[in-house]
Amino acid sequence: MGEAAVILRKRLNEAFPKETLKAAIVLGSGLGGLVAELDDPVHIRYSDLPGFPKSGVSGHAGEVVTGRLSGRLVMVLAGRAHYYEQGNAAAMRPVLETLKSLGLEILILTNAAGSVREDMQPGSVMLIDDHINYSGMNPLIGEHTDARFTGMTAAYDDALKQALHMAATRCGEVLHEGVYMWFSGPSFETPAEIRMARVLGADAVGMSTVPEVILSRFLGLRVVACSVITNYGAGMSGDELSHDETKTMAPLGGKKLQKIIKMLIGDIA
Ligand code: HPA
Repeated sequence: MGEAAVILRKRLNEAFPKETLKAAIVLGSGLGGLVAELDDPVHIRYSDLPGFPKSGVSGHAGEVVTGRLSGRLVMVLAGRAHYYEQGNAAAMRPVLETLKSLGLEILILTNAAGSVREDMQPGSVMLIDDHINYSGMNPLIGEHTDARFTGMTAAYDDALKQALHMAATRCGEVLHEGVYMWFSGPSFETPAEIRMARVLGADAVGMSTVPEVILSRFLGLRVVACSVITNYGAGMSGDELSHDETKTMAPLGGKKLQKIIKMLIGDIA
């Protein structure tokens, strides 16, 4: 067990003796609202956990918050490291390895994304059905075991996808479904790149999540992911894109996604 896992295990044993963690949830830019929904929260800063990223993106808090959601114990990771920060696609590997050694089996990833589809407007929530790794990067480059040849045919867990759809229906929220295309960032796409993304089969574009999905499958975690749509892709609306817009718009779809996740967690046995 790594150092971070030892620290977390000790704190969790003190705060929640004998309780099993049901799921971990990674929060994207501007989606921090879920933290306030947790009962009996225990906060631990990334800076107190060896190997955890020093997240430098505004809108990302950089703390692990463990608490009860719908009565179940969950671990929320508020803040992620992105490839574009240091050019390291495996920046989240220590975090995901820690989750694995704490015995977690289910990972829910969230992000803010741009829509490539006219009928999926800002404020919508999209379940990621599959992805296109357009960055050309891979977090398993440099891994020496044969486990690096990780299968991605069923990367996004079918049972969890169905459970998310059911949860959305039960709380009366529309849940779109589509393909997420990973661009390295940090600059936004050009209008030509957005037209290309549409032709290639993308429904949403963003700068995160895909490396975490690859690492999760490598580690044997069950994973599901959702995008909160904060804007139309470049050139679709005429407006210039900005991180400020992402942060202001994220809570709109973020509130819907929070409701859906809360319902989903209540459904997990
Ligand atoms: N492109 C890439 N990443 C994003 C976008 C976008 O339009 N919106 C939010 N994150």
